[in-house]
Amino acid sequence: MTRRESDPLAAAVAAIRAGRLAAMPTETVYGLAGDATRPGTVLAIYERKDRPSFDPLIVHLAAAEAADGVARVSATARALMDRFWPGPLTLVLPRRSAIPDVVTAGLDTVGVRCPDHPLARNLIRRAGRPLAAPSANRFGRVSPTTAAHVHEQFPDADFPIVDGGPCRVGVESTVLALIAEPVVLRPGAVTPAELGTVLGSPPRLAAAADHRVNAPQQAPGRLPSHYAPRTPLVLRLPGAPWPTGTGLGYLAFRGHDLPPAVGPVEVLSPTGDLREAATRLFAALRRLDAAGCVRLIAELVPEEGIGLAIDDRLRRAGVETAS
Ligand code: TXA
Ligand code: MG
Repeated sequence: MTRRESDPLAAAVAAIRAGRLAAMPTETVYGLAGDATRPGTVLAIYERKDRPSFDPLIVHLAAAEAADGVARVSATARALMDRFWPGPLTLVLPRRSAIPDVVTAGLDTVGVRCPDHPLARNLIRRAGRPLAAPSANRFGRVSPTTAAHVHEQFPDADFPIVDGGPCRVGVESTVLALIAEPVVLRPGAVTPAELGTVLGSPPRLAAAADHRVNAPQQAPGRLPSHYAPRTPLVLRLPGAPWPTGTGLGYLAFRGHDLPPAVGPVEVLSPTGDLREAATRLFAALRRLDAAGCVRLIAELVPEEGIGLAIDDRLRRAGVETAS
């Protein structure tokens, strides 16, 4: 018998098997997981997060072979799984009845993904169930990229939190709908260009994910408040001057053009590496949020590759204004 101390997953496996919750690391962000086939467990996930029940959950699998049990897998979907799984790509597919309504918010589609993290895949395999898992944060707040972030969000957590260290990718998975024409519902680490190598051409971004179409400045008060720190956050457009004044905190991409002697600063990647910036994004936002500023200024990054995902999260966290 393996002793519990040497088996970091034992408590989580037991919790999931008993129909309770467990927080698990993935390569993107930490998830709050439960047995996707038990409606009562899935309801508890929504309740724990204060998440509205109309926002469907992603079903996590240990391997692509398990997808047939929860969704109708087309040849295109299979080709995408072969290329990108395990990895940060969620596919929205027609669902099968093994997945209860509460997981999909009543939709006849289901989001499925196979995470690229050994602890997550071992947990799913040992639990013997597909796991419904949203990001392990309270609804509308910044997603956790360390186990400590999960503790911060749930100080009274009555569920095991599996510590897998800092998440490698740092932003949530790309969500690709394969119901009609392929559409990216949420940009992530798997880019439209990479998807295009399998699909034949890059998929379009859904209007809600494409800020060039759905320009936030056209409806400033109606931005979905998501991924938000508590401190008000204002976006700095590329090339615009950095605002200065007391009480400001700065989230910079490369940090090379910051004015001297400003307030608290987080630089995402001095070398301009977008993947490094994505990995650091949420932890940097949390540190700035805890720095006692009256307002945060965040710089948008180039809209290429994973930069699309970074800008998507920043735009959801803040408002775009000139000052
Ligand atoms: O990287 C990730 O995807 C993380 C880790 C834990 O796997 N999970 C995550 O879950 O970000 P969550 O619940 O925070 O975000 C799931 C997103 C939501 O935007 C939801 O609307 C969308 O996926 N989604 C899930 N099922 C869907 C469906 N059937 N149709 C359309 N969108 C769906
Ligand atoms: Mg989330």
